[in-house]
Amino acid sequence: MSNPNNPNIQQRSTPQWSLYQRELFWGPNENKHPPFNTDPDKLKATAKERLSQAGWHYASCNAGQSLTHHANRAAFYRHQIIPRTLIDTSTRDTATTVFGRRVSAPIGFAPIGINRIYHATGELSPAKVAGELGLLYCLSSAGSFGIEDVARANDAGRMKGEGKGNGGEEQGGKGEGMGIRWFQLYWSPDDGVALSMLKRAAENGYEACVLTTDTWQLGWRHDDVMHGNYAFYHDHGAGDLGLNDPVFVDRVKEMGLDPRGEGDKMEVGASWIDGHIWHGQSFSWERIPWLMENWKRLSGGKPFAIKGIQSVADAKKAVELGVDGIVVSNHAGRQVDGAVASLDALEKIVDAVGDKIYIMYDSGIRSGADVFKALALGAKFVFIGRLWVYALGSGGEEGVRHVMKSLLADFDILMNVAGYPNLKEINRDALDSLPKGGYYPPTTEMA
Ligand SMILES: Cc1cc2nc3c(=O)[nH]c(=O)nc-3n(C[C@H](O)[C@H](O)[C@H](O)COP(=O)(O)O)c2cc1C
Repeated sequence: MSNPNNPNIQQRSTPQWSLYQRELFWGPNENKHPPFNTDPDKLKATAKERLSQAGWHYASCNAGQSLTHHANRAAFYRHQIIPRTLIDTSTRDTATTVFGRRVSAPIGFAPIGINRIYHATGELSPAKVAGELGLLYCLSSAGSFGIEDVARANDAGRMKGEGKGNGGEEQGGKGEGMGIRWFQLYWSPDDGVALSMLKRAAENGYEACVLTTDTWQLGWRHDDVMHGNYAFYHDHGAGDLGLNDPVFVDRVKEMGLDPRGEGDKMEVGASWIDGHIWHGQSFSWERIPWLMENWKRLSGGKPFAIKGIQSVADAKKAVELGVDGIVVSNHAGRQVDGAVASLDALEKIVDAVGDKIYIMYDSGIRSGADVFKALALGAKFVFIGRLWVYALGSGGEEGVRHVMKSLLADFDILMNVAGYPNLKEINRDALDSLPKGGYYPPTTEMA
């Protein structure tokens, strides 16, 4: 679909993502060039060059020896797409619904904290771009901008995107003019703070709560440890997400600290992160109904999901408790070193409970082909993390837009050239899967 007047265009209901390729091919005629190369290894190198040392280490660090990260990437090579030919892909459609809301593609922004260390516009940029493109944005409770400001940026992007017909629209429908956003919770052991964060999220149009359960504290990440790289203890402090929270602010005052006082910044940052985000205190399944019920009460019954599931037993437990969805994720290999590949976990979990709960996936996605493989293995939706973080660090808002439009174009073009006209056709029959350990890629970098 390089021809923008191609008659197929009239038949398609989702945006012409693939035309972004044409725009870039035409660009040099108008002296326009992309901000960076989207090849994941090259993008990673660009991010390393452009980020501060602290930003680079925090974005790129994995747990331990990166064995889980490499397992995540290698698992994608094990599954190979079977191209079909002479299939009518002219009406192909990437749109889907997630918990009842239409999105322009089954691809969302994974929650990633402290975006200010990558770019001054922080979370506002990915939230805005997600709105523009009709994609789901998930805000981390370790974020640097306030829940309220991020919601506004997300809606502003959505208004801009609707003007351009960027998919995900529901004219006159639920949520018209509103971005599609979720809130990822790090669960404070202080019920007052946990509920206050959920209340703010519910009041600001976050349509689901995603509880992350693999990060009671950060995994052992050598480079971050070596450089004492923990932004909350240093310049960043608690960030607006913490400082805009009325209950947290009360707690800080009770400690005799001035929440926004320069002199107390590091102490306040420490009390936010140590007390409420990565506190080292684990919760167990017995407490899930309490949290879920409170979220439903505060949000008027909105969905509740758990992120960080890798075992079939845990997935079954989530089903048993009536959790609405799970994200099969190992946090991009940043928490447990030497763990199973998230994609291998996905396959088993889909086999066990795929018909009983809404299954989403992340960890290791770097391309349209990777999105395709996760969907083919049974995920209904996928999240992207490092790609957009590296892009934010490499080119701010423009960088995030470029990387996401490129990924969407890559996926759309793949559906066209591989002969898969819609998401339903992307199932296990579309893959030839080699046995575990059967194939390793010729590169070691693997972004
Ligand atoms: C720099 C960085 C920060 C992250 N911060 C969070 C976070 O605050 N909350 C969370 O649930 N997951 C966090 N994650 C994990 C992502 O949400 C997601 O699971 C992961 O990045 C997906 O893998 P990918 O980066 O290979 O796409 C973070 C990941 C990275 C790379």
